[in-house]
Amino acid sequence: MNILLTGGAGFIGSHTCISLSEAGHSVVIYDNFCNSSPSVIKQIEAVLEKPVSWVEGDIRNTALLKNTLQSHRIDGVIHFAGLKAVGESLQFPLSYYENNVNGTLSLLRGMLEAEVTNLVFSSSATVYGNPQYLPIDEFHPLAPTNPYGQTKLQIEQILWDMSTAYKDLKIIVLRYFNPAGAHDSGLLGENPAGIPNNLIPFMTQVASKKIIELNVFGDDYPTLDGTGVRDFLHVVDLAEGHLAALSYLSQMEGLEIFNLGTGKGYSVLQIIMAYEEACGNKIPYKIVSRRPGDVASCFASTSKANQVLGWSANRSLLDICKSSWNFEFQSNKIYRA
Ligand code: NAD
Ligand code: WQD
Repeated sequence: MNILLTGGAGFIGSHTCISLSEAGHSVVIYDNFCNSSPSVIKQIEAVLEKPVSWVEGDIRNTALLKNTLQSHRIDGVIHFAGLKAVGESLQFPLSYYENNVNGTLSLLRGMLEAEVTNLVFSSSATVYGNPQYLPIDEFHPLAPTNPYGQTKLQIEQILWDMSTAYKDLKIIVLRYFNPAGAHDSGLLGENPAGIPNNLIPFMTQVASKKIIELNVFGDDYPTLDGTGVRDFLHVVDLAEGHLAALSYLSQMEGLEIFNLGTGKGYSVLQIIMAYEEACGNKIPYKIVSRRPGDVASCFASTSKANQVLGWSANRSLLDICKSSWNFEFQSNKIYRA
């Protein structure tokens, strides 16, 4: 299929671009590089050893989107583009609604005009809010606790309405848990600007001594060791989940929702131990107070994705840590050269 990846130069989009291309799909990246860079395209090309089609553009530019969809004869869109930082969304909610919600409306308008009827959307486990039970399945109540999560929920609602109104549309909503790790080549990975907010990128910077120590946010949660428990999913497994979703689109009608996670939760202290094993360095840390808005435990029920998509995550927590460390190592080597 000819697939457009909005936000395809980002962390998850770039890995998905590789998995899709390797599986024989023809991919076009559409990105405004607000949280990535054209250098990512070069890295993708280095991994694939061939040129990649890309367009620099904003998803709110409906005319450019429509033109791109038509000129590349796009069959389906995977919609990654969006802003994703929870804390920033509390500070700048308007930017989040403008970019994520208005951006998606513009994409849907462009798709209708270009008669593109297949869509996979990057949603998030953040739409569930505080877990009412574990593991979290797709029927869990939806109650996001921040503007970022609200934008994901609003987009899901818009997609439901679109699938009701336009019977030709086929839509898959993927709710990711905690994506992490990097490509085995060491050429692609998570590269947040400034001080990272998320655990694994922060830990990587501690391991490489760019940051002195890790703050562990709370050790008094009702978990095995008191620290928070999360479902960390290797980004290459996640990329392969998109491949499974694309092939399922041809068999389905309307809209389907799938959790993508491993189904297993690990505590922050367990993750520190795994990272230490991966990098061979000690990760200095101290316990500090809980981070506002955090929950004790969050992990997915993956039964629906396993049974219906035939997909499951195969890579381990150690694989995630090793690949993150390898990416950090390779990036520094490239940077120093
Ligand atoms: P990312 O920031 O690395 O990638 C997003 C890409 O979208 C970037 O390349 C950015 O430049 C681009 N972009 C943003 N706004 C745009 C716009 N208006 N027009 C064109 N391009 C635009 O993020 P990611 O981690 O790869 O996440 C991809 C998607 O998955 C996002 O929608 C995010 O909300 C969702 N998600 C991510 C996580 C996570 O932990 N990484 C978890 C759940 C869901
Ligand atoms: C994981 C655990 C922290 C940093 C976020 C978003 C979510 C989704 C994925 C997009 C928690 C602890 C963290 C640190 C720590 N993104 N921690 N010290 O909060 O589960 O999910 O990313 O959709 O919406 O909220 O991930 O990696 O920030 O935290 O102790 O420096 O690590 O308290 O228990 P989170 P995270």
